[in-house]
Order: sequence, then structure tokens, then C-alpha cells
Amino acid sequence: FCREIHFLSTVDSTNEEVRRRAEQRAPHGSVYVAEQQTRGKGRLGRSWFSAPGTGLYFSLLLYPEKIHSAPSSFTLLAGLAVCRAIRALTNCPAMIKWPNDIVIGPKKICGILAERSLTPLGQAFIALGIGINVNAGVFPDELQKKCSSLFLETGKKQNRAALFLQTLSCLDKLYSQPEAPIADYAALCVTLGREICYSRENQILLGKAIQILPNGELLVLRSDGREEVVSSGEVSVQGI
Ligand code: BTN
Repeated sequence: FCREIHFLSTVDSTNEEVRRRAEQRAPHGSVYVAEQQTRGKGRLGRSWFSAPGTGLYFSLLLYPEKIHSAPSSFTLLAGLAVCRAIRALTNCPAMIKWPNDIVIGPKKICGILAERSLTPLGQAFIALGIGINVNAGVFPDELQKKCSSLFLETGKKQNRAALFLQTLSCLDKLYSQPEAPIADYAALCVTLGREICYSRENQILLGKAIQILPNGELLVLRSDGREEVVSSGEVSVQGI
């Protein structure tokens, strides 16, 4: 799709940059990539570690067509695109932890944040933000156990520009497909078939992840035998 790529040295958050640019009616498919973010955002109100020079931090501005309109469906496309790009360039066995993490083994390599909003003129847009730990050698103490980078996994510095372009190219292909690539996503999803713990309205529930639905939601078979659709929130996979 039509695309402009804007390189920024420092920005608060590339998702916030998308919001500002959408208000100025920037075109569909515009991409904002930053060397450093001062207020990188994660899901569920968390921050995203965005040290200069070692990671890839970028967001796309998308004006959704109907078939792709739930943020979860964009998360799904982005997760699959990043997973394919990492596999193509590094041979690392990257997998998707539903809904939005890319992991190698137990460690998180990439997070995705799709936010839907309206412009002042009432046009819906999605800020599809992707953060990939590419060449980081160390993480803050609180992240060290959970996160890794492609450098730490391969022992080699990776080319951020190549990974960026490969991810955009994978995303482009996926976005232009008429059907959601559920089977491809499912094949790379570590969550499926596993016992999970998830939260709803301050309750912690247990169940088995049994299916990814076409809009990216997760179908769970609860321990009480009922099925439930989970669309977002915190999910932990037993054993990962
Ligand atoms: C998560 O796993 O919680 C989602 C992390 C998303 C981080 C990316 S980095 C680029 C874009 N800009 C942000 O502020 N956040 C996303």
C-alpha cells in the first residue's frame, strides 16, 4: 500500500507521532521510525524500554477498511509479519505468544501495540506500533529475565534497516490478502493448545487456548468446560 517512511531521531512515542500525523491527515500506510523514544508505550499502560541505537521502534498509520477493522486483527498481521521477517533474516525460531509478543524460547523479543482512535473529523485510524529488541546487549534488571534481543540470541549484531524493510514487506503482503492468515498465524503461535492463565474483570481464570478466531481473538476452553472468547488483556502460558 502507499507508503511514506519518516525517520525521526528522538520522539516521545511513534504511536503518538501517528496520532499527531493522522490529525494532519497524513496518508494511509505512513510509517514513523525512531532511533529513540522518550516515552515508549507498551500495552496495559506499561512503558516500553526504548534505548537509542539498539532497537527498532516504528509505527504505521492505517485508515482501516472494514475487514481489518478490529485492532486485534492488526496485531495479528503485525505479529505474523515480524515473526516471518525475523525467521527469514536470522533463522531464529521466533514464535508468537498471543496476542502481541514475539518470543524466542521463553524470552520476549518484540511487542506490538495497535491503538484505534478517531481524528477530529471523525475518521477512524489505527496506530500500529512495533518494537523489536535487535542489538541490545543488556536490559534493565526488571526486564533481564523476561526479555532478549536478536543479538543475544544469535551472538551477531543484526542489521536493523534490513529487518525493518523485511517486516514492512511481509506486512504489505499480508495486508493485501483478502482473508486473515489465521492458519499461518496459528502455526507460529506458542499459545495454542496450551494451558493458560488469563484475567477478566479482576478475576484470574484458567483454561486451554483452542483456536484463533478470524479477527485475532482467542477461543479458550475454560476449566469449567465452557468456551470463552478472549480479546485482549494479560495471558500467561504455562511453562513459558
Ligand atoms: C507491548 O508488548 O506491551 C507492546 C510494545 C509496543 C512498543 C512499540 S515501540 C514502537 C511503538 N511506539 C510505542 O510507544 N510503542 C510501540
